[in-house]
Amino acid sequence: MILGIETSCDETAAAVVAADGEVLSSIVASQAELHRRYGGVVPEIASRRHLELIGPVIREAVADAGIDLKDVERVGVTCGPGLIGALLVGLSAAKAVAWARGIPLVPVDHLQGHVASLYLGPAPVEPPFVCLLASGGHTLLLVVRSRGTFERLGTTLDDAAGEAFDKGARVLGLPYPGGAAIDALARHGDPSAFSFPVARVQGLDFSFSGVKTSLLYAVRDLGEAGLEERRADLAASYQHAIVRALTQRLHEAAEHVGVARVAIVGGVAANSELRSAVPDAALAPLAFCTDNAAMIASAARYADPLAPPDSLTLDAYASAA
Ligand code: KG4
Ligand code: ZN
Repeated sequence: MILGIETSCDETAAAVVAADGEVLSSIVASQAELHRRYGGVVPEIASRRHLELIGPVIREAVADAGIDLKDVERVGVTCGPGLIGALLVGLSAAKAVAWARGIPLVPVDHLQGHVASLYLGPAPVEPPFVCLLASGGHTLLLVVRSRGTFERLGTTLDDAAGEAFDKGARVLGLPYPGGAAIDALARHGDPSAFSFPVARVQGLDFSFSGVKTSLLYAVRDLGEAGLEERRADLAASYQHAIVRALTQRLHEAAEHVGVARVAIVGGVAANSELRSAVPDAALAPLAFCTDNAAMIASAARYADPLAPPDSLTLDAYASAA
């Protein structure tokens, strides 16, 4: 029994996962409502809210799994990358549980966590595969040859794909977090109504800073009444441009390393157009695409545990190593 804890951004999450990858419980308390009026995550507010929620969320995850805290055999916790104050709340709680129970603590990298969402039951994915990790903070192409490790093939040179969705949503006057709002609105629009070219950069990297600028110009040209009328077309065309850029590079990467199997993880993997654009891709269930603790518990099966008192020396880190 592994207790996973995740507080890297604005989701307070805890989950219980069995050694074979079966998810016994997964609790995610989203703070999106709290940050909406600011149009994005406010780090100080996120930390404070994590502090209020972490105890109840852990208790609920344990109760929901039908177990007792004394049945937990190890604790896995996100140490980074993410908001440092937010990470420290989850890490401190994890240290407390592991120390009190005298069980090992496993430091988990958030990105490894997203990849490990694919190893959860009931249909875990087996490496090797080429993985697109697209979230609010990262857009990476990885080759995964065994569980617990990956090699980077490419990354974004500027904005992350999820960030492009969030910033685009703001331009369109849609609420934060923008990805899901664009996804929903795009269903009612024409993806070929506008042309939003995504810059093609060298190698297997991405660039998404230009596409939001072209959306901004289109919205300016339309004016307020025009935006009102064409909002769904704009959302559909913008989403289509981002999805096309992501899928093209994913297939190029798979060809480059000669690995046939492809997978998509991270919050943007919840996007309905992306999911249907790569029908043969391995995908985690929707609930495990956006931030959650089941993926962290899953990754904790493949990282090195620290026994007390060494576990108390663990520290959080803000950016990827
Ligand atoms: O993985 P995640 O929950 O948090 C990070 O680690 O960043 O990803 C959040 C990102 C946000 O940018 C959000 O707008 C995006 O994932 N997202 C979506 C969808 N659902 C969430 N983007 C496009 N379509 C969606 N349905
Ligand atoms: Zn994430």
